[in-house]
Amino acid sequence: MQQNKTDVFPTEDQVPANMALTAQLEQKEYLVNGELKTWGGPVQEVFSPVYIKENNKLSRKRLGSFPILGEKESFEVLEAAQKAYDLGRGAWPTMPVKKRIEYMLQFTKMMKEQKNNVVKLLMWEIGKSYKDSEKEFDRTIEYIFDTIDALKNLDRDCSRIEKKNDIYAQIRRGPLGITVCMGPYNYPLNETFALLIPALIMGNVVIFKPAKHGVLLIHPLLNAFKDCFPKGVINIIYGHGKDTVAKLMESGKVDVFAFIGSSKIANVLKKAHPRPNRLRSVLGLEAKNPAIVLPDADIELAVNECILGSLSFNGQRCTALKIIFVHEQIAEDFNKLYVQKLEQLKMGMPWEEGVMITPLPETDKPQYLKELIEDALKKGAGVLNKNGGEINESFVYPAVLYPVTSSMRVYNEEQFGPVVPILSFKNISEPVQYMVDSNFGQQVSIFGNNTRQLAELIDPLVNQVCRVNINSQCQRSPDVFPFNGRKDSAEGTLSVFDALRVFSIRTMVASKDIEANKKILTEIIEGRKSNFLSTDYIL
Ligand code: G3H
Repeated sequence: MQQNKTDVFPTEDQVPANMALTAQLEQKEYLVNGELKTWGGPVQEVFSPVYIKENNKLSRKRLGSFPILGEKESFEVLEAAQKAYDLGRGAWPTMPVKKRIEYMLQFTKMMKEQKNNVVKLLMWEIGKSYKDSEKEFDRTIEYIFDTIDALKNLDRDCSRIEKKNDIYAQIRRGPLGITVCMGPYNYPLNETFALLIPALIMGNVVIFKPAKHGVLLIHPLLNAFKDCFPKGVINIIYGHGKDTVAKLMESGKVDVFAFIGSSKIANVLKKAHPRPNRLRSVLGLEAKNPAIVLPDADIELAVNECILGSLSFNGQRCTALKIIFVHEQIAEDFNKLYVQKLEQLKMGMPWEEGVMITPLPETDKPQYLKELIEDALKKGAGVLNKNGGEINESFVYPAVLYPVTSSMRVYNEEQFGPVVPILSFKNISEPVQYMVDSNFGQQVSIFGNNTRQLAELIDPLVNQVCRVNINSQCQRSPDVFPFNGRKDSAEGTLSVFDALRVFSIRTMVASKDIEANKKILTEIIEGRKSNFLSTDYIL
């Protein structure tokens, strides 16, 4: 029986049978050179953010363990990747696009068979609701199919010879080389695969290290990776970044660094590379997306979107609304309704139908959020909602802070959790100035109805961030739209379409228009002697 708002954890027999994991997963394997090697060294134990109650005591549910590889294994993997890429001469980077698509389709077929296993592990490992975990899986499958379609279109556009002045040319996109992929713990499947899939399909070879949480969920896919791609094309390592990825970067042999996570880690790893000119970075980093609620906004709509924007998956989205500016004329009504709606949100275990607030996977996060709240309270804010900020182990009851001021930590720091800072403004220049001064530049949400005022805001704000959402929360999806940011929020643009570009480079074959050259080009094309110089059209 639930005693209070944060008494959310179940006893073992309260976990529904269809949501329980049948056994702990002691992963020993890592994927190198097309082989699942067994690891006999140290392992990292994995515990769920979900605690289990027994005799009135709470303990984290143990889920299993995974290998902690070291420098030696990282170099073994690097060697496999180097062999597969063979400085651009390997079978994978020189293969026709059509063939690479066939490999990817085979992988997707095997991946789909693992849906249930992956989704359940995703839910248990990071506390994402079952429904959202399922959505993340389906979104990833859709992403792969959309990528294949986009690549077919790209390839079709390149399947021709162009002529300018007296030069014939065929221009295509070629791979960049050895790509290290690391995704974030909040979308350990979708965001990682949104890097890995385009990297692979463009002919790069990949070394993939899963996020700090959400590692075991990759295990059910290991066989699909092993069986569906040629040796060394995809390699999967585990362990501490300093002993693995940092060593790879120090080797200078990494060509692309694809990473979604904190700028602190990204900067350390980037700097470790001795030849920065040879490194392309594709980064998704911090954000502090503001909502700006104008005096004529539809308050109900604004509150609904701000609740979704600030608290979906406990606010652990890079695109989450992390600070809310409300015009002073409507601040009281907005706050009242926000708190009312928050109190209706379902808090609990990730398998519960309709649950929105669930336990947090980062063990130090509750304490960090507590410090942010205490700092704000000390400097004059209040917690607007009853029970706001109450903590029970990994579960944090959302706290709505008001009025937040620039002296508070939560004004600038990315909380990445269920703390909602709200402040009121008199003049629109205040939130605009906040954005200008901010180190981040991902997205903004504006709520209002006056088209003249909205238009006046759109024009300067599209140059502060990369997506201005009107009467809508901030979000990455749909994945065919560009996902990027200015300032310290990102490097490079991701979308189904853009990712194919960031993981490749335009490269061409050119020849002067003389009879002998024309004959050569024709013979190569008609004789289907080259995969690159070819007018074959993928149907
Ligand atoms: O954490 C960042 C995710 O890509 C957010 O995706 O905004 O579509 O939920 P979303």
